[in-house]
Amino acid sequence: MKRHFFSGIQPSGRLHIGNYLGAIKQWTGLQDEYEPIFGIVDYHAITAPYDPNEMPTRILDAAAAYLAAGVDPDKSILMVQSSVSEHTELAWIFNCQTSMGRLSRIPTFKEKVRQTPGEVGMGLFDYPVLMAADILLYKSHIVPVGEDQVPHLEFTREIARKFNATFGEIFPEPAEVLGTGAKVMGLDGENKMSKSLDNCIYLDDSFEDIGKKIGSAKTDPARKRRDDPGDPDVCNIYSYHKIFSTPEEIEHCAQGCRSAGIGCVECKKIVVAHIEETVGPLREKRTELLANPDTIRDILVAGSDRAQKIASETMAEVKSRMGLTFG
Ligand code: TYM
Repeated sequence: MKRHFFSGIQPSGRLHIGNYLGAIKQWTGLQDEYEPIFGIVDYHAITAPYDPNEMPTRILDAAAAYLAAGVDPDKSILMVQSSVSEHTELAWIFNCQTSMGRLSRIPTFKEKVRQTPGEVGMGLFDYPVLMAADILLYKSHIVPVGEDQVPHLEFTREIARKFNATFGEIFPEPAEVLGTGAKVMGLDGENKMSKSLDNCIYLDDSFEDIGKKIGSAKTDPARKRRDDPGDPDVCNIYSYHKIFSTPEEIEHCAQGCRSAGIGCVECKKIVVAHIEETVGPLREKRTELLANPDTIRDILVAGSDRAQKIASETMAEVKSRMGLTFG
């Protein structure tokens, strides 16, 4: 029997190329060796204000993006987190193994507090505990994610260690799997690409949108005029070349930038063409899939059922170790 692992994305907006390169693209390469569980983590998405009317569409959109990218429902389990109540059940148990001090030191929480006006909700505070439950419920040994999730994986390993030491060995200590697109920078050139910062190339952007966005994206500020030499290592567009372009093109653009042999316009054109090579087929496939939303819904219902069976086995084991055997 193949081993499982869990990874997921929040349905909190349109998916972007950071989500694709950091997570989904890696997922597709692991479907032969494992039977992965790919979740749409809606309980995580409600930790920030959202419109309930939009949630069902966002879930379908995310599932369509997974499928368009090559997630195969015959090899992988596609599920919706809120359909499998074992996720929140295990999160409660992990809450009882977690100190508030440890959670308040997680860097992603500190960052969210800076970004969130007013009161910080319990859901946001507790977010990493639910994520640890997502991962450990399926006894994941690996978790393919982007770099921003590494502190959450560290925390997950700690929870596993603590649980195992207290109640006996059940959980593996999962390792993050980071690909070449583990940290895709945003169009602002200062932050990682992130829905909340609106600095994204989305997976459903048109070719024209991509051209416009890259056209106005920041480059090395030292290159004010065409003839000014620049430093590719401080240029955001060069970071995209390193992900999307061929080794020859990367070298051509780096040299051309340093010597002012090529201008930013030419350099950007190459990147736009490559991003379109990735995004174009995903966009088309996604549109095709969304024409039959019932097929996507069926895949999610069947996947959530299958996930629930695996999750309930782990929960039975956990409760038995903890003396919670009355029910
Ligand atoms: P989320 O929804 O913010 O992002 C989903 C995945 O996309 C990756 N990612 C990026 N990778 C590279 N460059 C970027 N700019 C970029 N932006 C996002 C993320 O690292 C992630 O892999 N907490 C998670 C969701 C989650 C989860 C889980 C993930 C909940 N439970 C269990 C793995 C396992 C999150 O907010 O991801």
